[in-house]
Amino acid sequence: MIGFNPVKYRKDFKVLGKYTYLDSSCVSLKPKQVLEAMNSYYEEYSACGGRSSHALGRKVTAKIEEARKTISKHFNAKTEEIIFTRNTTEGINLVAKSFPFKEGDRILLSDKEHNSNLVPWQVLEKKKKIKLEFYEHGNIEDFKRKVKGTTLVATNHTSNLDGTTQDVKEMARIAREEGAKILVDGAQSASHKEINLKNLGVDFYTASGHKMLGPSGTGFLYGKKEELEKLDLFITGGETVKDTTYEGHEVEELPHRYEAGLQDYAGIIGFSEAVKYLQRIGMKNIEKHELKLNKKITEAIKDIPGLTILGGKPEERSGIISFTVEGMDPHDIALQLDNHNVLVRSGYHCCHSWFNSKKINGSVRASLYLYNDEEDADKFIESLKKAMELLR
Ligand code: ALA
Repeated sequence: MIGFNPVKYRKDFKVLGKYTYLDSSCVSLKPKQVLEAMNSYYEEYSACGGRSSHALGRKVTAKIEEARKTISKHFNAKTEEIIFTRNTTEGINLVAKSFPFKEGDRILLSDKEHNSNLVPWQVLEKKKKIKLEFYEHGNIEDFKRKVKGTTLVATNHTSNLDGTTQDVKEMARIAREEGAKILVDGAQSASHKEINLKNLGVDFYTASGHKMLGPSGTGFLYGKKEELEKLDLFITGGETVKDTTYEGHEVEELPHRYEAGLQDYAGIIGFSEAVKYLQRIGMKNIEKHELKLNKKITEAIKDIPGLTILGGKPEERSGIISFTVEGMDPHDIALQLDNHNVLVRSGYHCCHSWFNSKKINGSVRASLYLYNDEEDADKFIESLKKAMELLR
């Protein structure tokens, strides 16, 4: 597909008529095709998968396996390497709780992690199992120095705080040389970039469906087959085992051994439909479109007195414009924008550690997606200028 015009797609997202939605880094909107796919599960075949051999059970099993194929192909992974989770947080916890760490192992994180990729490691550290170390996000030289002697690197691909993206392919190469494994939090990259997992060479990668047009409560963890084989079990129960006796159990094959209990079938089917929707547009088109809008907004607001945009040039910030205004509370700015039906997120964006270390009282974050258009950008710029006048 050459070029991309959101006008054609906006009609699939009902709320866009009423709101200028600029909070897709938190949760993206869902197109009607996703909702229809989920609804058809509930209306036409809402049975369980992988168990019952009746007609509806067979249909659910087939639909879930089809979804796994669609999602694994999209990210260039094998089907058995994709484990369905509830979200990125669960993917990270699965690795944190199941990786065969030895006491004293070193985990390397960046200094700009979401709480979901900080707290699970702090919990492990508290149990004195591992030691945490931090490098400066995006600083490859610092990474190179600190990765020596590390067992596992856990870091984001794109920061949810300011949109800055790290060269995880190069980081995975360096980690490999040093004998370290790497887990990538892809919550903010999977939805906005073409991700080829084989090519990236990371050991684990996890992302959420709800940030990529899919329903809440969906996500996946990718792991290289040989790395997944080494993990301990996580949540256990039905479908994670082939057989049990009173004395023990025989563990199921990948990926099912990590998908305990009844799954969110409608959610997984909706997630797969979301991936198909993204494929019809093309990830490269989405990336280019967001950059165009980001440049327009950046150019229009960068000289507002006291305003500082976090991160670098628009090219380095994906679809995110995160900023502070001297002397103003970010929540006050967000509430003023809300009065104009312009919806942004304000505060610490679950990255308290970074804001606390810099003594910054949060930021206002506008985040773009494929359905935002020039009019949205204009509305944001104009509403922000009005908010500034009111709050000064
Ligand atoms: N990680 C989500 C955000 O950045 C919740 O808003």
